[in-house]
Amino acid sequence: MSQHEIDEPTGVDTTGHEWDGIRELNNPLPRWWLWCFYLTIIWGVGYTIAFPAWPLINGATAGLLGFATRAEVAADIDRYAQQNAGLTSALAKVELASLADNPDLHRFAVANGAAVFRSHCSQCHGSGAAGAVGYPNLLDDDWLWGGALAEIAYTVKHGIRNETDDDAHYSQMPAFGDLLEEEEIAATVQYVLQISGADHDTTLAQDGAALFEEQCTACHGEQGQGDRSQGAPNLTDAIWLYGGDTTALTATITNARFGVMPAWGQRLSPSDVNAVAAYVHGLGGGE
Ligand code: HEC
Ligand code: HEC
Repeated sequence: MSQHEIDEPTGVDTTGHEWDGIRELNNPLPRWWLWCFYLTIIWGVGYTIAFPAWPLINGATAGLLGFATRAEVAADIDRYAQQNAGLTSALAKVELASLADNPDLHRFAVANGAAVFRSHCSQCHGSGAAGAVGYPNLLDDDWLWGGALAEIAYTVKHGIRNETDDDAHYSQMPAFGDLLEEEEIAATVQYVLQISGADHDTTLAQDGAALFEEQCTACHGEQGQGDRSQGAPNLTDAIWLYGGDTTALTATITNARFGVMPAWGQRLSPSDVNAVAAYVHGLGGGE
C-alpha cells in the first residue's frame, strides 16, 4: 500500500513506503552532506579535465595539466643516464682485465648487469642464473666456452651457433645415429657413464672406450675432459647440460644437440654487454 501522509508523532511527511507497518519518514538530507556530495561531483569532473581520463579510440584525453606517468619515468631514466654518463662511457671502453682495479666502476657494472640480466637473460638461464636443461648454469665453475671476464663478454656479444653474428662461437657435434649402430651407441653411453663416475655396465663400457677414442676424443678430449675452443662439454664432471642418465645420453649421442644463444652485441650497448658479463662473472664461477 502506498500513500503520502503525515507521521503523527513527528509531524514529518512520509515517503509512502511501508514495510510491516513501519513507514519511512521523508526527512531532507542534511545540508552539509548535500554540499559535500555536490562538491565531489564538481571535483570529479574537474579531475577528468585536468588529468588523463576519458578513453578515446587510440589512447585517452591528455588532460590540461599534461601529467603523464610515462613521461615521468622517461625523465627519471634520462636523469639516471646523465648522472652515470661518465661511468657508462668508461665501462664501454674499459679493458676488462683491469675492471676489478676500479671498484666504483666494477660496482656500477655489476649493479647494471643484474638489471640487464633480469630483462634479457633470465628467460633462458633462469632468474637466479641456475639454468635448465639445454641452458647452462652460470653459477658454477663449469664453462663450455670459458669463464674469464673477457671470454664471458665475448660469448654475450657474439652468442653461440646463431645465424646473426659471423663471430659467434660455432661447433657441431655429429648425430651419431647416422654413423654408428645402435649397439655401438649403447656401448658409448656406458663408457660416458663410466668416465662421469656413474653406475655402468663394465663389459659394454670397454667396447665403448674404443669407440670413444675413435669418434669422440677429437672434440671431447683424450679423457673426455672437454674442449672449450669447441664448446665441447667436459663429460667427466657429472655436470650435464642435457642430462646424464642413459636415456638422455642416448638421445644426445644419437641426435646430437645444437644449443643456440643469441648475439647481444647488436642489441645491447657496449657498456651493457660489459656490465652483464661482469655480473655473470661475479656470480661465483668467474675465472
Ligand atoms: C634464447 C635463450 C638464451 C638467452 C636469452 C640467453 N642465453 Fe646465454 N646461452 C643460451 C644457450 C642455449 C647457451 C649454451 C649454448 C651451448 O650449448 O653452447 C648459452 C650460453 C651462455 C654462456 C656460456 C656459458 C659457458 O659455459 O661458457 C654465457 C656466459 C651466457 N649464455 C650468458 C648469457 C647472458 C649474459 C645473456 C643475456 C644477455 C644470455 N646468455 C641470454 C641461451 C640463451
Ligand atoms: C665435432 C665435435 C664433437 C664430436 C666428434 C663429439 N661431440 Fe659430443 N658434443 C660436442 C659439442 C659441441 C657439444 C655441446 C652441444 C651443445 O651445447 O649444444 C657436445 C655435447 C655432448 C654431450 C652432452 C653433454 C652434456 O653436458 O649434456 C655428450 C654426452 C656428448 N657430446 C657425447 C659425445 C660422444 C659420446 C661422442 C662420440 C660418439 C661425441 N660427443 C662426439 C662436440 C662433439
